[in-house]
Amino acid sequence: MLRTHTCGALRIEDVNTEVTLSGWVQKIRDKGGLIWIDLRDRYGITQLLLEEGRTGEQLIATARTLGREYVIKATGTVIERVSKNPKMATGDIEIDVVDIEVLSQSKVPPFTIEDNTDGGEELRMKYRYLDLRRNPLKNNLELRHRLSIETRKYLDSEGFLEIETPYLIKSTPEGARDFVVPSRIHEGEFYALPQSPQTFKQLLMVAGYDRYYQLVKCFRDEDLRADRQPEFTQIDCEMAFVEQEDILSTFEGMVKHLFKTVKGIDIEPLERMPYEKAMKLYGSDKPDIRFGMQFVELNDVAQNKGFNVFDQAELVVGINAEGCAAYTRKQLDKLTDFVRRPQVGAKGLVYVKYNEDGSFKSSVDKFFSQDDLKSWTGKFDAKPGDLLLVLSGEADKVRKQLNELRLEMGTRLELRDPSVYKPLWVVDFPLLEWNEDNNRYQAMHHPFTAPKPEDINMLDTDPGKVRANAYDLVINGVEIGGGSIRIHNRELQKRMFGILGFTDEEAQNQFGFLMNAFEYGAPPHGGIALGFDRLAAMFAGQDSIREFIAFPKNNAGRDVMIDSPSTISNEQLTELHLQVVKEEK
Ligand code: AMO
Repeated sequence: MLRTHTCGALRIEDVNTEVTLSGWVQKIRDKGGLIWIDLRDRYGITQLLLEEGRTGEQLIATARTLGREYVIKATGTVIERVSKNPKMATGDIEIDVVDIEVLSQSKVPPFTIEDNTDGGEELRMKYRYLDLRRNPLKNNLELRHRLSIETRKYLDSEGFLEIETPYLIKSTPEGARDFVVPSRIHEGEFYALPQSPQTFKQLLMVAGYDRYYQLVKCFRDEDLRADRQPEFTQIDCEMAFVEQEDILSTFEGMVKHLFKTVKGIDIEPLERMPYEKAMKLYGSDKPDIRFGMQFVELNDVAQNKGFNVFDQAELVVGINAEGCAAYTRKQLDKLTDFVRRPQVGAKGLVYVKYNEDGSFKSSVDKFFSQDDLKSWTGKFDAKPGDLLLVLSGEADKVRKQLNELRLEMGTRLELRDPSVYKPLWVVDFPLLEWNEDNNRYQAMHHPFTAPKPEDINMLDTDPGKVRANAYDLVINGVEIGGGSIRIHNRELQKRMFGILGFTDEEAQNQFGFLMNAFEYGAPPHGGIALGFDRLAAMFAGQDSIREFIAFPKNNAGRDVMIDSPSTISNEQLTELHLQVVKEEK
């Protein structure tokens, strides 16, 4: 062994022990007579001490050749430190070194390997293996590991089997584009990488494996954001002989288990909020319920008073920013600018200050009397000192805009504490949504989702109204997971493809295998998939999933470390029956 202990292990009880440590040189301080070296590995940092006169000359000379990130093996005796460092786990001791062997040299790293590094994003991505040496990333990967272990423990204890499904498949429509892989053997044909194992897990139910799960890579060729990567990991699950309630309670159990075991937090029973209510009260199907500020609709008190903007609006709706009546002109202008940003898209913002003296001051005083404004504040249960922020327009749009404003106010008022966790289920999603571009309905979740039995009769007459047995797991405003009860009947599945605009032939071509399977005894089934990277980031109170993936892609979908995607040789292209790119002369 190149070490007797790790760099995080030694304590005051170990004084006088002979030890050998191996690791990376974090820092060297050479104070003439004394040299200190901070030696680092995955487990921590231990201080090495060399003293001129006492330590051999040769060794001192070797120490002076070391640089940051050199890999060394150091042998010596544990001694008590004169000046202890209570911030370090090993801060009571140091090693009186008698031998150092250089195992590997290092160039000067392009950024400092410190918790707060001086390296920019691209540089750190290029040298990801150096970035991964830093504590924040190490802690993230440790957290991810812990979550995966506890996930497996829980699901195993509930009788789930982990079963792998293939990565070279044919496309499943989950709403994103597929990554495709050309076949060498079958000219002109392509595999697709799975956007999720959806159809395979359903086939496993038909096969009788009534509780399946998999921590599985999924691939989606879609625009990247902080919470999206082209390849990401799901905790993918499916159960047979269940109803929605069974799935919600099983995975509520998993959420509670994970919070308890990984973070020591007891989670309250999860609220189940119908989609319609979420949209009405929060303007979002992933509401952040860590704070209130629910929407209040004002049509009945704000319309027909001569203010044209409101009179023409489908919806007049607002929020109460409690205690913000003292906002200055400048602060209110900033909020107006915020809602006018193209990303939000509102035309303007109306405010009502409920002053401490009981009077009201609004941006629409011309149109509304003090009594009118009083009736508004009554609807909010507002108190003196509160500030109402009101938007108006087309209902769907204005709700989305107000959602943005609510989240912004939540952030400004520090109501979105990352150490507080408020998960909930959003249920009763619509089965279909209208796609403006294609002028047809598309599945809101995916085409295998079952309509609510009581709504099936509206499938032909009013498809937009049909609700699905579909649910999302939302934590602190982030969609962590989604799932549904599935269709398990060939005829209904075929009908669904028809509603989604597939011809019978297209449906048979793409999904014949699934519909055929339904003819051989398909049990009622349903499931869910949780975004594992998102869950890990959420557990650390962070937004960006990239920091929880060892080797992620950058914002442009590139791996700048290995330089991918990249071109391939003409030989490879030919072999794959792809067009050969002519070399420029
Ligand atoms: P869905 O498409 O909702 O459902 O995906 C499930 C969860 O996966 C996460 N997720 C992502 N995470 C990171 N990067 C991405 N690009 C990305 N896309 C999705 C989200 C999301 O909630 N087969 C169905 C599940 C089912 O019905 O059982 C599915 O994939 O957290």
